[in-house]
Amino acid sequence: MKKRYYIFFSILFIVLSIIMIINKSDKSILDSNNLLMIAHRGASLHAPEHTIEAYDLARENKADYIEIDLQMTKDNELIAMHDEKVDRTTNGTGKISELTLNHIKKLDAGKWFDRELNGLSVATLEEIIQKFGTDVNYYIETKYPKNNFKMEKLLIKTLREYELLENASQGNVVIQSFSEESLRKIKELDDKIPLIQLQGYDEIATISKNELEHINNYAVGIGVNSESITKEFVEKVSNQGILVHAYTVNDLSEMNRLKELGVNGIFTDNKDLYK
Ligand code: G3P
Ligand code: CA
Repeated sequence: MKKRYYIFFSILFIVLSIIMIINKSDKSILDSNNLLMIAHRGASLHAPEHTIEAYDLARENKADYIEIDLQMTKDNELIAMHDEKVDRTTNGTGKISELTLNHIKKLDAGKWFDRELNGLSVATLEEIIQKFGTDVNYYIETKYPKNNFKMEKLLIKTLREYELLENASQGNVVIQSFSEESLRKIKELDDKIPLIQLQGYDEIATISKNELEHINNYAVGIGVNSESITKEFVEKVSNQGILVHAYTVNDLSEMNRLKELGVNGIFTDNKDLYK
C-alpha cells in the first residue's frame, strides 16, 4: 500500500513540475526576435496593482515577465509600490520613506480598487519572491533611488539570497530604471543582469547615435513611453543592437501598432492582451 502511495505522489510531483516548467515563459529578453509581454504592476487592470493577487493573475495568464516597482521603507525594507506615497493605492497616507514596514503592512491595499476586496496588503519584494520563486521572470524597477545605493545593494542581496541570479545572463531577472546612476550601480554589483534604461518623451521619441552608444555601455535596451515611438525610432535603436520596450499599452490597436513597428517588449496592465 505504502509503495502505491509513493508511486502516486512521485508521478503527481513530476506532472506538477512539468506543468510549472511549461507555464513559465522561456522567451529570452536577449533574443531580439522575441516579443515579450510584461505584466505591468501585475495584471493591474484586473486586480490591485503590485499585490500578490495581481501577480498571480499575470502568471496564470502566462505573462513573460512580472513588473515590480520598488520602494524602500523608513526601516530599509523593499516593497512593491509605484508612488512615493501610500495614499493612492492604500487606505493610509504618507511617504513610504517615512513609514515602517510594520505600519505599511497594516494598510488595506485592495479597497481603493474594489470595495468588495478584503484583506489585501502591500507586498514586499521578499513575499513576491517567496510566492513565485523561479516560476516567473522578474522585471524590477528601482524607483526614486537615492544616491546612497541602499536600494540597489538590498535588491541584489535579496535576489542572491533566493538564488535568482545563478543564471542572471539568461534574463530571468531584468532591472530597469530612469536613473542611469542606479543601473550603473547594479552593474557594479552584478554585471550579468540585463539592464533597461527607461526614457520618457513628451513628443516623438528621438535619440542620437552618441546617446545609443552611451546606453550600450551598460544596458541591453531602452524602455520608452509607447505613444512617442515611431518606425524610424525603432529602426535606429534596433540597428545599434539595442532592444526597445514600450510602456504602457492597454488597448489592442496600440498593441498592434507597436508589434508592427517591431518593438521587443510591451508593458501592459491588461492580461487579455498577452497573447
Ligand atoms: O517601467 C516601465 C514603466 O512602468 C515606467 O513607468 O511610471 O509605470 O513606472 P511607470
Ligand atoms: Ca515601472
